[in-house]
Amino acid sequence: MQFSTTTSAPARARAGCALVPVVDGKLCGSAAQAIDEASGGRLSRLLESGDLAKKAGSTLSAHLDGAIARVVLASFGPGDEANEKAYLDTVRAAYKAAAQFRADDALSLLHDVPVQGRDLDWKVRVQVLAGRDLAYRFDAMKSEPDPKPPRPKRVALALERAAATRAGREIERATAIANGVDLAKDLGNLPSNVCTPAYLADQAKKLAREFGLKIEVLDTKQMQALKMGALLAVARGSEQPPKLIVLRYQGAGAKKPPLVLVGKGITFDTGGISLKPAAEMDEMKYDMCGAASVLGTVRAVAEMKAKINLVVIVPTTENMPSGRATKPGDIVTTMSGKTVEILNTDAEGRLILCDALEYAKRFAPAAVVDVATLTGACVIALGHHHSGLFSPNDELAAELQAAGKEVADTCWRMPLDEAYQEQLKSPFADVANIGGRPAGSVTAACFLARFTKDYDWAHLDIAGTAWRSGTNKGASGRPVPLLAHFVLSRADGA
Ligand code: BES
Ligand code: MN
Ligand code: ZN
Repeated sequence: MQFSTTTSAPARARAGCALVPVVDGKLCGSAAQAIDEASGGRLSRLLESGDLAKKAGSTLSAHLDGAIARVVLASFGPGDEANEKAYLDTVRAAYKAAAQFRADDALSLLHDVPVQGRDLDWKVRVQVLAGRDLAYRFDAMKSEPDPKPPRPKRVALALERAAATRAGREIERATAIANGVDLAKDLGNLPSNVCTPAYLADQAKKLAREFGLKIEVLDTKQMQALKMGALLAVARGSEQPPKLIVLRYQGAGAKKPPLVLVGKGITFDTGGISLKPAAEMDEMKYDMCGAASVLGTVRAVAEMKAKINLVVIVPTTENMPSGRATKPGDIVTTMSGKTVEILNTDAEGRLILCDALEYAKRFAPAAVVDVATLTGACVIALGHHHSGLFSPNDELAAELQAAGKEVADTCWRMPLDEAYQEQLKSPFADVANIGGRPAGSVTAACFLARFTKDYDWAHLDIAGTAWRSGTNKGASGRPVPLLAHFVLSRADGA
């Protein structure tokens, strides 16, 4: 799905399909009025029929017989302004309705709806992201691709000349973000027998070639030399060799401290010796969605040629049981020198992350954000709406929250105070890798906090947001929009 702007008079526009907003039961905006007049009042009569409910997200599809062949009337609810949720729900509903038509090109007027506290940039951005999200297909593993291509193929946003240039720039940025989202979805959706640590490293190399990034992939020997005892402890049970992928995008002066993103890359999480139950274990192929999201983000940032330095670090391995696997009670020494008592081998994400976070120090980062499908407890706490946000730094936390709101990929701040550190005490080592059932996502973050004292740091737990379960099962590509927008805001601010 390709987006563009058009400034030609709506009355004279040609399109296979028009997406027309309705607010409080009335056509919204002068472009909608113009199309109504050009169609001899057809849109008004459709509204008079009463077939379109006022409720936000309702749609009515019909054929016209002019230069605009079809129309989707989309209701944004009662009142003269939509709220954010009504806007997002209705945009999705309108694009879904348009996909039912055979039209290849659409003309959208949906951004003409006023949204409380939101400007045109936001309305354009989330429209592109929602359209691209709905157009995504994953058929890499099917013997024949889906014969029905996603529709419409092209969407032109109708705008006044004064707004078109700015909106065009926003479309460009949102498209780069959507390309990053698609990459993250593809990597997440691939099964673990294809998407291995070596496969992730190959994909990172491909990105490096395509976008001129620097890349380094550390192997087991190099990890041993660096004394990454925690990452290696997780990898012990697997036949697939672990990798530590380091990608560097340089968009600013070489001396400028980079942002560093670290993504959990467990390509399959069986739990190890602390084996998970069988039900839904297939979903643990998504345990590399943190890795996928940071790779998607660097793709987006590089495509936009943002003026910032960005380093992406991906520790990646499987978590498997075997005769060589790490066992509950084993004690390992991390790269930082701290020792960890591994009481549960299923709390492996924090183990691979603590060594990657220690490694991040060498880049003298402006800030470090790690992203991980870290805890089931985070899903219980926040469900599937917000990612969990943990940071000792109020400014960085506020920045990430604001970035999420700008792209409808939100996070919710969780506590991280010293009081919880008690739960991680070990009688035998410096720290235990689990803190019991209470506040499981907080104690996981507290574990990471012990390794991130030397720089500004935030942690995103995406266990509830990185994929969708049920019939529409699949990776969501979150939080690529949040991260990309965060990086971009820093680049713009610099
Ligand atoms: N990858 C899982 C977290 C997870 C669980 C993500 C379910 C999405 C859905 C993680 O490695 C894990 O197993 N965490 C354990 C931690 C526990 C042993 C302290 C968990 O959440 O149960
Ligand atoms: Mn686990
Ligand atoms: Zn895991």
